[in-house]
Amino acid sequence: MENQKRYGHFDDQHREYVITDPQTPWPWINYLGNEDFFSLISNTAGGYSFYKDAKFRRITRYRYNNVPMDNGGRYFYIKDGDTVWNPGWKPCKTPLDFYECRHGMSYTRITGRKNGVEASVLFFVPLKKWCEVQKLTLKNESAETKTLKLFSFEEWCLWNAATDMENFQRNFSTGEVEIEGSTIYHKTEYRERRNHYAFYHVNAEIQGFDTDRETFVGLYNEFADPQVVMEGKPRNSHAHGWSPIASHYIEVTLKPGESKDFVFLLGYIENEQDEKFEAPQVINKKKAHALIAELDTTEKVDKAFAELNAYWDALLNIYNVKTGNDKLDRMVNIWNQYQCMVTFNFSRSASFFESGIGRGMGFRDSNQDLVGFVHQIPSRARQRIIDIASTQFPDGGCYHQYQPLTKRGNNDIGGGFNDDPCWLIFGTVAYIKETGDFSILDEMVPFDNQPGSEVTLFEHLKISMDHVINNLGPHLLPLIGRADWNDCLNLNCFSWDPNESFQTTENVSEGTKAESLMIAGLFVVTGKDYVALCKKIGKDAEAVRMQKAIDAMIEAVKKHGWDGEWYLRAYDFYGRKIGSNECDEAKIFIESQGWCTMAEIGADEGMVAKSLDSCKKYLECEHGMVLNNPAFTKYIYEYGEISSYPEGYKENAGIFCHNNPWVIIGECLAGRGNDAWSHYAKILPSYVEEKYQTLHKVEPYVNCQMVAGKDAFKPGEGKNSWLTGTAAWMWYTVSEFILGIKPDYDGIRIDPCLPETATDYTVSRKFRDAEYTITIHPNGQQKGVRSIVLDGSPVDGTVVPYAPGRHTVEVTM
Ligand code: BGC
Ligand code: NOJ
Repeated sequence: MENQKRYGHFDDQHREYVITDPQTPWPWINYLGNEDFFSLISNTAGGYSFYKDAKFRRITRYRYNNVPMDNGGRYFYIKDGDTVWNPGWKPCKTPLDFYECRHGMSYTRITGRKNGVEASVLFFVPLKKWCEVQKLTLKNESAETKTLKLFSFEEWCLWNAATDMENFQRNFSTGEVEIEGSTIYHKTEYRERRNHYAFYHVNAEIQGFDTDRETFVGLYNEFADPQVVMEGKPRNSHAHGWSPIASHYIEVTLKPGESKDFVFLLGYIENEQDEKFEAPQVINKKKAHALIAELDTTEKVDKAFAELNAYWDALLNIYNVKTGNDKLDRMVNIWNQYQCMVTFNFSRSASFFESGIGRGMGFRDSNQDLVGFVHQIPSRARQRIIDIASTQFPDGGCYHQYQPLTKRGNNDIGGGFNDDPCWLIFGTVAYIKETGDFSILDEMVPFDNQPGSEVTLFEHLKISMDHVINNLGPHLLPLIGRADWNDCLNLNCFSWDPNESFQTTENVSEGTKAESLMIAGLFVVTGKDYVALCKKIGKDAEAVRMQKAIDAMIEAVKKHGWDGEWYLRAYDFYGRKIGSNECDEAKIFIESQGWCTMAEIGADEGMVAKSLDSCKKYLECEHGMVLNNPAFTKYIYEYGEISSYPEGYKENAGIFCHNNPWVIIGECLAGRGNDAWSHYAKILPSYVEEKYQTLHKVEPYVNCQMVAGKDAFKPGEGKNSWLTGTAAWMWYTVSEFILGIKPDYDGIRIDPCLPETATDYTVSRKFRDAEYTITIHPNGQQKGVRSIVLDGSPVDGTVVPYAPGRHTVEVTM
């Protein structure tokens, strides 16, 4: 019964998820901001903000994994007589008469009501502005005049989120603020090497403030009962060191029925070196004043909000489907695309599971994210490809991650993940197919960001392919290096030391033996794309050269990578099979099934069908397909981190949602629409939402990285929501393979793969300067297009040729 409880519901018309109970099973968050300035916000207003980089430019402080959970955020305390409450319930947790949180496209609106007062806060980051707007509307719904005491609250982070959490001997002495009218400025370290400061402003006269945390909260109080709020009196504290905060105090009188808006702004400013100060020790506030002036009235804020909504209207109008199945339509048209934007922006850096300090932008992750994002804003995708390629080394290897602020490769992690290079082809091909912009291939791109080292992007693609070819093992399969897509399959690591990271430990050997079938499949899939690209741009000799390498790889997989019922996963350091029926545990893995079926290796020999059947037989369970089966029950020194996880979690037989779509695409290519759909629906958030809100725990409107697998203590429990390659892969799968609308160099390829029960549906697709309205008549078929009619004339084959303008397409299966 427990699992029947619901905490919210979808509101498709407004593109919102509406949370009606603040005590969700886990904080359910949203992201604000689209470029440069970003915030994370939970359903109780917890979270933090940063500029570009969650590690190096953290604006407000956040405490991860705290007690209570989700501690710290932007809080409004309302003191109404003896009652103190917050619109988002936390931190006071005063029971509310009404609570609602609406997470929408880059905005969140939280509304609370207590004793005849309604407080509604709209949070968003205006387009192209470096600030978070918090528009608070207070309304007196009672029959008496109300005099309320309002306290705002933000806590500053001392910029570097990592040292902020550890270097207290310094931090407690550096904090500095300035107060000017209704604006509180945070300027720690500005006196020396920083040229940036932050501010917290309100567009109203204030009757007091506080900037010192200890004064405001009290050393032995909590966010739930700050002493200043409880006393109903600010102390006008001026922080010197310790922990600077920003709190405004406002007295508000409201007649019955009256309402008032307050615009709070959390802003970030950078100054030129010679313009830092307006007087000794006094920061130059010119830019802050200008930013404030742009948003100092309700009208200006409403206009900025309307612009944000229009921006999302436009983005979500590019691909839109009407199937009549609300659960599918809302994921395709709204939430999946939204999550793709978020993963594009953040890669795997900042969520409620990623602290924002450990990981930057992943080489592999960001390339995959592109496939979910490229149709939204191709110009940003283009820049991303160049940024990623600039972290490559001359031999085709690359940094595994780079830092968004500096765009430099991250030395702590280094390189050596041998799948990484192939993903550059994956991302670039997706970009060119979407845009038709082949000129990107001629862009001059450096190695390791070294000026003078530039070669064309095409050259980067070539050395990416060559990196695989130059690193083959004894079975002529790709050497795995530190790991492949599965960061935890560390076959050259051999670690007995708990103080070292599996990912970065110096490999005992660079690995002359351990080989990966996942990379083999990836090489064939991206290799075919590379060959097609070469032919397209007249590099025929290169196409022939690479086709030979692909053919050889296919032969190697057939000969050394097939286990009888499924594809092997790898060979270990000693040349022993991994993911074989001969193994005691982990006899079958999903990654090689996904990639080798996507590559259609051995399709004619029946390998593909057998592999897909084995996925159903051994990997599938109620909540999706697990990564491997059976789970490892003990640590295997030769395998590394994968066997460090308890059974059913993460890379040890968890349902890694990310790789379920690989098998689903394999199913689609094989024409098995019923199976593809049933796998897909199992991990589609809207289906999970309906049944498992409590068990699943994490946000029901987005995919999470992992759902506990069948061998876990609690199968079906989700973790690591939001930042996962699952977003892009779910999008790629449903938009291009299930619904079957696939951008191609010369037009749109239409080749759906559907369950027999599918009924007619329509996709409207903006594509370059054209707009296609495509209606598909499945006629009970799972696969196979019988006829395509474009603007009244039949089309040969499955590609609708590109031509600017509006077009109508009728497809009969
Ligand atoms: C996780 C992986 C992740 C890796 C990043 C591991 O602990 O299990 O999912 O990719 O860390 O370094
Ligand atoms: C999460 C990482 O971000 C991704 O790059 C990796 O492929 C998966 N974990 C699997 O290990």
